Amino acid sequence: MTHTERFTQLAQRLAEWQPLWRCLPFQHPRLPWQSRWPGLAEALLALPDVEVVRLQEAPFIDSPLAGWLPVGELARLVTLTSLAGQGEALAEGFAEGLPEAWAEGVGERKWCQIQAFLPRVEVTGGESLVEWCAGKGHLARALSHRHAMEVTALEWQPALCEAGQAMAERQGARVLLQEQDVMAKGAGRWLDARTRVVALHACGDLHRRLLELVVEAGSAVTLAPCCYQRTTEDIYRPFSGLGRSLAEAHGLALERDDLALAVQETVTAPRAVQRHRQRAGAWRLGFDRLQRDVRGVDAYLPVPSLAYGQMPETFEGFCRWAAQQKGIVLPAGIDWSGLEAAGWERQAEVARLELVRHLFRRPLEIWLALDRLVFLEEAGFTAELGTFCARALTPRNLLLRARQA
Ligand SMILES: C[S@@+](CC[C@H](N)C(=O)[O-])C[C@H]1O[C@@H](n2cnc3c(N)ncnc32)[C@H](O)[C@@H]1O
Repeated sequence: MTHTERFTQLAQRLAEWQPLWRCLPFQHPRLPWQSRWPGLAEALLALPDVEVVRLQEAPFIDSPLAGWLPVGELARLVTLTSLAGQGEALAEGFAEGLPEAWAEGVGERKWCQIQAFLPRVEVTGGESLVEWCAGKGHLARALSHRHAMEVTALEWQPALCEAGQAMAERQGARVLLQEQDVMAKGAGRWLDARTRVVALHACGDLHRRLLELVVEAGSAVTLAPCCYQRTTEDIYRPFSGLGRSLAEAHGLALERDDLALAVQETVTAPRAVQRHRQRAGAWRLGFDRLQRDVRGVDAYLPVPSLAYGQMPETFEGFCRWAAQQKGIVLPAGIDWSGLEAAGWERQAEVARLELVRHLFRRPLEIWLALDRLVFLEEAGFTAELGTFCARALTPRNLLLRARQA
């Protein structure tokens, strides 16, 4: 299957099924699609807990949704191979030869991601290397070691530049951290036709800017995109001409919240964090019921999120906090335990109905990545898209690699 065939077919499926996957179950006590697909909703709501967990992890395997939704076709469209790279240890996803001490101060997962990313950065003679939005330049240090060359790392936070530079110097890595806002006017000066730019998990507008500058300068690029929703634009503006025509032809106008779905999948959190999330979800849904009753308005009301340690101890405490945030005066005599139980019940329903969205998460992510790839192809680049590490290491495991043809 060519890139454009995959891109076109994904656009068609995403557009066709958008009434189902764009709808957020926690906002609707009854989903707008439920009356049109009553059998699907019923089948989902009847699923036992273990099946829900299994399908959250593996939405394409033995899915009971296959009777209604194009599960097999989506599974085929999201199957990508691991992007080829150089180096013997590639099969295990690890690059050989990085000093162990260099992993210090880098998260374990991040270090493994860097090791998997590394052999997939092919540097040809005479090419210079630039890391885009580098943080402390961990990837840049690893690259400078592997290719025995100087690497320039761009980052806008002075503290990160300083710490990264000190680390590189301590370790004898030839990395130059440069304080640079990549969105600023002159950022293109770091790129030319002999540059390869690398970016690991650069967010929406930051990688959009990168690809626009890459096209202008004719640089090569190796990019693992991330957080497509981090953009100033309310409605997604496809990068590629083909993307724009497909979106228009099929009526696919994606909003920022829709883009967030593409990166919603996270590595399974520790049990305590999972339990905390579940409780927070149930309490929010309990409060949702309460606020609809008290306000007499049957509409969802967004409540700000609370950091892990800031959640009130009790459901009542949480509702009082949320009511205060939204300027709602609560009446006396609320049946807190009944309401909390209703929240938990709703949460079980929402988790089941969300399975429809889980099925479209990876298709959307790959469609967005392909939009970037097709944009580069339209500009005369040769481009490839594949994975660079196992999903268990990071679900954001797509890698786009391109150079001028
Ligand atoms: C998601 S992190 C990725 C960092 C690193 N590549 C990694 O994988 O850990 C994004 C980095 O981009 C930096 N950043 C955000 N906006 C930027 C901008 N406008 N110019 C330069 N760097 C920016 C942040 O400070 C942060 O270090």
